[in-house]
Amino acid sequence: MRVGIIGQGYVGLTISLSAAKVGHSVVGFDLNDALVSSLNSAKSHIEDVTDRALESIIKNKTYKASFEAKDLEGCEVIIVAVPTPLDEERNPDLSFLHSAVELIRQNVKSPALIINESTSYPGTLRNEIAARLEGVEHSFASSPERIDPGNKEWTTKNTPRLVGGLTPEALAKAREFYGSFCDDIIEVSSPEVAEAAKIFENTFRQVNIALVNEFAQIADALGISGREVIDAAATKPYGFMPFNPGPGVGGHCIPVDPSYLAHVANQVGVPATFIKRANEVNLAMPAYVVERVIAGSGGSIKGKKVVVVGVSYKSNIADTRETPAAAVIDLLRDQGASVAWHDDLVGSWRGESSLPIAGADIAVVVTKHDGVNLAAINACGYVFDCTGQVAGVDGI
Ligand SMILES: NC(=O)c1ccc[n+]([C@@H]2O[C@H](COP(=O)([O-])OP(=O)(O)OC[C@H]3O[C@@H](n4cnc5c(N)ncnc54)[C@H](O)[C@@H]3O)[C@@H](O)[C@H]2O)c1
Repeated sequence: MRVGIIGQGYVGLTISLSAAKVGHSVVGFDLNDALVSSLNSAKSHIEDVTDRALESIIKNKTYKASFEAKDLEGCEVIIVAVPTPLDEERNPDLSFLHSAVELIRQNVKSPALIINESTSYPGTLRNEIAARLEGVEHSFASSPERIDPGNKEWTTKNTPRLVGGLTPEALAKAREFYGSFCDDIIEVSSPEVAEAAKIFENTFRQVNIALVNEFAQIADALGISGREVIDAAATKPYGFMPFNPGPGVGGHCIPVDPSYLAHVANQVGVPATFIKRANEVNLAMPAYVVERVIAGSGGSIKGKKVVVVGVSYKSNIADTRETPAAAVIDLLRDQGASVAWHDDLVGSWRGESSLPIAGADIAVVVTKHDGVNLAAINACGYVFDCTGQVAGVDGI
């Protein structure tokens, strides 16, 4: 099939590779012309798509990146994979999605199957996409992306894929498309069910992470190890699922998606109390980390040299979106510490560069990538670990 994929980020580029590898002819469309040029020179910007894989689909002529919206015309399948962030009031910001839809409206005059993979609240496909594209006989399906960047075990191929169509024909065509590169397609009765399932999955994680973050604070105050308790509880073979405490939640999904559910819940008059409380607990974790660092390192960090190790939101990826490291650094600085950060994968961020760990009085490990210099961390006078992966030091 001829496939146009709008947005060449974590989601769009990954799907582009999966579809191109099985022989679909893929146009990867993005508004960022520098990104388009680098993709066309086989330079990938995400960890799960190697330069080599990109090179091979470019050579086979099954993939090309483009910033010309007219290249979308004639595609049988068009996928929307653009950011769906929150605005300043933490309400859904669908401006990227609306602009992608407008591009389709202006440039795609032949009927296509339009699939939304961007995460959003139930009703988005019907009301924010299909309703804006009346006049051409398009069909519409929703297939929210579940990809977990950096996860080697669960990939686009073997993660079950939810699909809901506005019509049976749309659902059948979406099944045919995804069935060409995904092992397991799960049809649901409507796009709204697929959309809601995705945000409920991430709300489940957000609420459980908040619960475990609160529990870690209780355990510490009781003088026991929260992580040892969680490991002990996880020996129960049924009815318990372990989550790990940490410095807060990051990335484009867990801190954001539950607020999309809260938004529609409010519209239908149901208070989303768990989501609100979980946000409060998770957003307060950086302050808790800094409090513990101050208490654990002698009562004041004024004038001390602190290095924050790992600033991306999770191990072994360079994504710093919504990372709790930002608040940890700002709060440490508010306390008068001289704060640098170290992250080989991120390199530069917020106008600053990664600096060596050596020479700091205090190391605060926010995210631990494989291969980070543990000896350098342990050589710091005081170490606070938010990850549970640095043995024998203070931490959550
Ligand atoms: N990153 C993840 O782990 C993940 C996982 C599952 C679902 N999602 C969801 O997928 C969607 C995309 O997320 P992402 O992480 O791939 O974002 P991203 O920021 O990595 O990539 C989005 C790309 O879209 C481009 N873009 C924005 N507006 C555009 C437009 N109108 N036309 C063309 N290109 C446009 C941007 O330039 C960018 O390159 C979001 O809804 C997100 O919640 C993300």
